[in-house]
Amino acid sequence: MAQDDRRRWDEKYRSRGPAAVDTLQPPDFLRPYLDVVPRAGHALDLACGQGFAAVWLARRGLSVRGVDISPVAIEHARALSVLSGVSERCRFDTFDLDDGLPPGPPVDMIVCHQFRDRRLDAAVIERLAPGGLLAVCCMSEVGADPGRFRAKPGELTEAFAELDLIATGEGEGSAWLVARARSSPRNSPRSSPRKQ
Ligand SMILES: C[S@@+](CC[C@H](N)C(=O)[O-])C[C@H]1O[C@@H](n2cnc3c(N)ncnc32)[C@H](O)[C@@H]1O
Repeated sequence: MAQDDRRRWDEKYRSRGPAAVDTLQPPDFLRPYLDVVPRAGHALDLACGQGFAAVWLARRGLSVRGVDISPVAIEHARALSVLSGVSERCRFDTFDLDDGLPPGPPVDMIVCHQFRDRRLDAAVIERLAPGGLLAVCCMSEVGADPGRFRAKPGELTEAFAELDLIATGEGEGSAWLVARARSSPRNSPRSSPRKQ
């Protein structure tokens, strides 16, 4: 299945050609919350496509790793980072997220725009450093027909309930969430007072 996806996305990206630097913008859903987006640290962009979000974050000051199953998308993302003058803060790898997240240390931000795989939710939460920001946006069944890649009503808030919610929304076939990992996990044995 993933290989079919790869071929399909490769063809799409090949026909589109590399992105232009002047198209670089924050993802729309994140625009009202730019004040919570870090300006330093490490970020992970899951299913990064041509690297719009990743390169935008690198220009903001973060060191970013983007992964995508499409080698053509990854080639375009690398080119965009070079054209944008931030290639030293970007790393792009072809990676199949069907195999889970790429291994690595905790990060200060995870962005996942227009891609949804529920199987990754626990690993995404786990990968956030304390206080790390999660920004996800995907297709939704709210205001659209049900579909395999669409989040069900309330799915994102439920999936990421462990995080401190900053904002969320769903409608017109789209769902998004911005949330922060707790600095000290509540109800965890580590944060409970020790018995003497
Ligand atoms: C709708 S595009 C979004 C791309 C990018 N995040 C953006 O907003 O421009 C979905 C992306 O998911 C990638 N993708 C699909 N299946 C994948 C998988 N199993 N592992 C990694 N990436 C995958 C595709 O190659 C494609 O780039």
